[in-house]
Amino acid sequence: MTGRVRWILILAVLFLLTTGCDRRGPDGEQVDPREKIVIKFSHVVAEDTPKGQAARRFARLVQERTGGRVEVQVFPNSTLYKDGEEMDALQQGAVQIIAPTTSKLGSLAPQWQLLDLPYLFQNEDEVHRALDGEVGQKLFAALEAHNVHPLAFWDNGFKQMTGSKGPLVHPRDFAGQTFRVMINSRVLEEQFRCLGARATGLPFSDVYGALASGQVDGQENTMSNIYSQRFYEYQPYLTVSNHGYIGYVVLTSATFWRSLPPDIRRIIEETMAEVTLWEREQASRLNDENFRQIKESGKVQVHMQTAEERREWQEALEPLYRNFRPVIGADLLDEVFRLKAARAPGSGRELSE
Ligand code: LMR
Repeated sequence: MTGRVRWILILAVLFLLTTGCDRRGPDGEQVDPREKIVIKFSHVVAEDTPKGQAARRFARLVQERTGGRVEVQVFPNSTLYKDGEEMDALQQGAVQIIAPTTSKLGSLAPQWQLLDLPYLFQNEDEVHRALDGEVGQKLFAALEAHNVHPLAFWDNGFKQMTGSKGPLVHPRDFAGQTFRVMINSRVLEEQFRCLGARATGLPFSDVYGALASGQVDGQENTMSNIYSQRFYEYQPYLTVSNHGYIGYVVLTSATFWRSLPPDIRRIIEETMAEVTLWEREQASRLNDENFRQIKESGKVQVHMQTAEERREWQEALEPLYRNFRPVIGADLLDEVFRLKAARAPGSGRELSE
């Protein structure tokens, strides 16, 4: 072997060692930074909520399964973007995943307000049958024009009513009070008007302050949000009304999605499907656990809505179904009613009265 050939061989070996085919260490940490895909996942709730926990689990699994090629950075608690900002941030590429409550899409695609109609669903089973079927597909299709790519529906759970002025048992108890509602949903604003109250749309991150200062008298939310945001500290009256549903749509931007290699897209989709099942179980478990903790705080007087009281609320809220039918679309509404009618009696966990 001549000296020149030896040098060429040495250089070739060095080249392979430093830039070799597999740039990843077994711990997934040694990916060439030029190859790394960073996904910023921004959301508005605490880490110990169904969405917070699922976001972290998704991040860990995707990182493991891509050998570190994808790093998902989770930003909880509105630390990066809050309600009203996160959709713009997604569309402009400042973040790659968000998971807003479906209500917050109402200004982008009004059909999504379907899910805000009070007493539309009796339990999670009914919700999943709608969202995992044709209703969910139609809602996803309504987003196509907006450069967003939907990845999944996650649960939070059913909303309860809380207040500071007195027990909220009958519709007349709402008269003259102001309630915080989620932004972008006219259905939610009208819901409180039907109950004789006023509604103020506020980002989630502002709710605690608004309750503490008395800017609003009450609000509606799930047990996990009421507990993790400590709303109960300023809301001594809680009615277990289960009158509406809070769920999330996990979104990425269509531009970003198309830019990903097919193998990464597949891992993300498979992991998302798996985490979605896990998330739904957590949501149900956490809401039960947080309800117990709220009661144990000793700060809240709990009222369990009776069947008769539910009928009173439903009657007061009935006009919403008529008034929003053209906005939401008869096809979507009728499909939900068809599913509910077809549901075998006794299936699904009934919500407590
Ligand atoms: C709210 O604004 O009350 C909720 O949508 C927050 C959330 O993401 O659960």
